[in-house]
Parts: sequence; C-alpha cells; structure tokens
Amino acid sequence: MNNKTIRSIKGTQDILPEESIKWQSLENEIRKITSHYGYEEIRTPAFEQTKLFSRGVGEETDIVSKEMYSWTDQGGENLTLKPELTASVARAYIQHNLGLVSPVNKLYYIDALFRRERPQKGRYRQFHQFGVEAFGSEHPEIDAEVIALAISIFYSVGLEELQLNINSIGSPECRKNYRIALQEFLKPHFSNLSETSQKRFNNNPLRILDTKAPHEINILNDAPIISNYWTDEDETHFKKVIEYLDILEIKYQLMPRLVRGLDYYTRTTFEITSSNLGAQDAICGGGRYDGLVEMLGGKPTPGIGFAAGMERLLLAIKNNQSKKNKVQIYIVGLGDNARGTVIKLAEELRQQNIATEFDVLRRSLKAQLREANKMDVSYAIIIGDKELESNQLELKNFSTGDQQKIELNKIVDHMNSLSF
Ligand code: HAM
Repeated sequence: MNNKTIRSIKGTQDILPEESIKWQSLENEIRKITSHYGYEEIRTPAFEQTKLFSRGVGEETDIVSKEMYSWTDQGGENLTLKPELTASVARAYIQHNLGLVSPVNKLYYIDALFRRERPQKGRYRQFHQFGVEAFGSEHPEIDAEVIALAISIFYSVGLEELQLNINSIGSPECRKNYRIALQEFLKPHFSNLSETSQKRFNNNPLRILDTKAPHEINILNDAPIISNYWTDEDETHFKKVIEYLDILEIKYQLMPRLVRGLDYYTRTTFEITSSNLGAQDAICGGGRYDGLVEMLGGKPTPGIGFAAGMERLLLAIKNNQSKKNKVQIYIVGLGDNARGTVIKLAEELRQQNIATEFDVLRRSLKAQLREANKMDVSYAIIIGDKELESNQLELKNFSTGDQQKIELNKIVDHMNSLSF
C-alpha cells in the first residue's frame, strides 16, 4: 500500500461480505426473539446534544469524561456521537410522549456507537450494540423478563459458558448512606489508592469498586457491602428478582460489589460474561434506571434494560455456520447480440424472486461455466447467436448434468415451476 492510500480510522472496522452474513443471521435471530417478548424497534439519530449524555450518563463516568467524540458545529451547538443508547432512547421516550401512548413501552435497538477507548480485541471506537429498554414498570417481573430475554438470545445464537452476575445497588437513599460508609472505610487507605481511585473518592466512590488493580481489590475485600444499606423496599425488590430467576431456572452469581460504569443505575444491575472471550469478557451489561427519565425532564418513570456488544457476541459464538445466499441461476451470454436478452431475462427471473447472476466481464463460454460452477448454482441458461436464432435456450441442470432446450418466452414460467 503506498502512502496515498487512505485507511480506516484506528478502532473502526469494515465488515466485509463474508463477515456481514454472520451479522445478518445474528440480527435476524435478535429481531425474532425480541419480538416474541413483545419488544419493538426504535432508531435514534447518530448524534445528540452533548448535555444529554453528561446529564444522563454522568459527568464523572469514563464514558463522558474521557471517551466521547464531541464537537461544536458551525451553528455553535455542542454535539456528541452517541456513546450509548439508554439516554437517547429515554430522550425519545420523553420527546414523543410514549408514556401516554401506552403505560409500558418495550423497545429494542441494533445500532452503532462511538467511544474513544484504547482499541484491543473486543474493544473498538466504533462498535455495535443490540439492547432493550423497558419503560413504565417498577416491578421485579420486568427485571426477570429482561434478563430472560438476554439469556434466551445468547443461548439461541449458540453462546456457551455464560455467567450472569447480578447485584442491586439500591435506591438513591441507600446509595447516599453507602457512599458515606465506603468513604469512611477507604479514608485510611487513601494514600495507597491509584490516582484514578483518589479522584473517584470524592466524586463517585462506588466506582472504586470497579477497580482492576490487585492491591485495591485486596483493600476492598473488607469494604462494607451495599446490601447492608438497602432499604426494605430495595431488599424486597431484589429478593423477588432472584426468586423469579429461580422460577425461570436461570443461573446467576450474586456479586455484592458489582457496580456499573454509568451513573443512571438504581437497584438491579447485571452483567453477563463469557469465558470464550479474552480480557473483554463482558457480553452484556444492564440494569434499572428508575430516575433517568425524570432527570432528563420527563415524568418520573421507572425503566430497565441491557445492551450487548455485537462484535463481542460474534467473537464468542463458535462455529458460526451462516451461509451465503445461494445464486440459483447463472445466465451465460455469448456475443454482442445476446447481451440485451441476458440482462432482460435476469431481471425477469429476479422479479420472480429467483436469485440470478450473469457475466459482466464478457468472458468465454468456458470461463462463464466455471464461474457458474464456483457459485454452486442450480442451473445455467445459455444464450448465444444460435439460441437467439432458434428461440430455443439451452438449460443446464448443474446437479444432474442434464441439458434441455426451452423456448425463450417459456423460460421464466419453466424456471418458476421448479423448486430450488
Ligand atoms: P455498557 O456496559 O457500557 O452499557 O455496554 C454494554 C456492552 O457493550 C458491553 O458489555 C460490551 O459488550 C459492549 N461494549 C461496550 N464498549 C465497547 C467497545 N468499546 N467495543 C466493543 N464493545 C463494547 C451500556 O452501554 C448501557 N447503555 C447498557 C444498558 C441498557 N443499561 C440499561 N439499558
């Protein structure tokens, strides 16, 4: 490649045809299963006002403080390529009064997102998520439904070795008390904390629980746990979620220190990991965000959802058997006179939903038949001067090797009568 060649941006990927087949079959499965659970698709714009994310996701989060692609446009507006979808979907929910249309709104999306993270396997700067957001119910039934939906999709696309980690980070009241207790506990260790954790100490001490540094994990072993600070309602809610998971025979791991990297969460939080992935083993993350709609200017509305990384899902799915759509007919055209007839016949067959190809390189008969063979077509139709003159086309059955003559004006009906 010479230095005039323009390459894609670090952390972004082209999805070439061989890969996009796998994406399509994953997307189809997602659409099928989410519809069984009553979720409908929502699509939101690629960029939003920056304040949607700073307010919704939280100023102190990694996403907002370090990873957003933000700019001021020619009209002086502060804009951001969406780094996640929960805030955008909540904005759309408020803007279009969806709560008035129906008391419960169950929405799903498959979309591209942007975060300026350090790229590595399973972590990109443009990546894709599918996710669901359910607005309107505070009850634990919907928590269980959302988790069951995630698990059901992952199993149906062939994921194995899944682990569901679950916790409740309680109501805001619970977190206020827990925050004080955690700061009290960490105070004597402050000088041993990393620079990041020291920063989080005042702004967002719960995020310290998310540390990957072994010496901090050691310190945190004796830290107070949030369940001791749950309100009675928090406890009842979480116990019910767990009870429903038991009823659904969904296995889970209680993780009293599981906190998520976004500030809108309340009560149920969960992550699903797969041991088929390397360091970036989180396939999916989600939880309840009962205060988000209100925080963004809407009426108080409970909500819960999750999102899963599509690239990670595809990395974790072993033996992806997705196959190319088969070309059924190859029309071999020979000579200048045949070209108009070839292109017309291809169009007529395609209109009948029969996948048809023809040669656009003006190759020889032998080369065209070789191409048809490579495409593993069911039939080839041969059209040259001789066939045009006699009005009789040559039809070759590729599986039996049989060859027969068919009249030009009967070929479409004939092909239509065959099963492919
Ligand atoms: P999140 O944990 O930031 O949550 O992302 C969810 C999933 O997106 C992760 O588990 C991972 O699979 C994938 N992911 C995140 N960042 C990257 C990246 N840089 N490259 C590839 N994959 C990535 C959210 O985004 C929340 N909005 C989820 C949610 C929905 N909570 C409630 N509703």
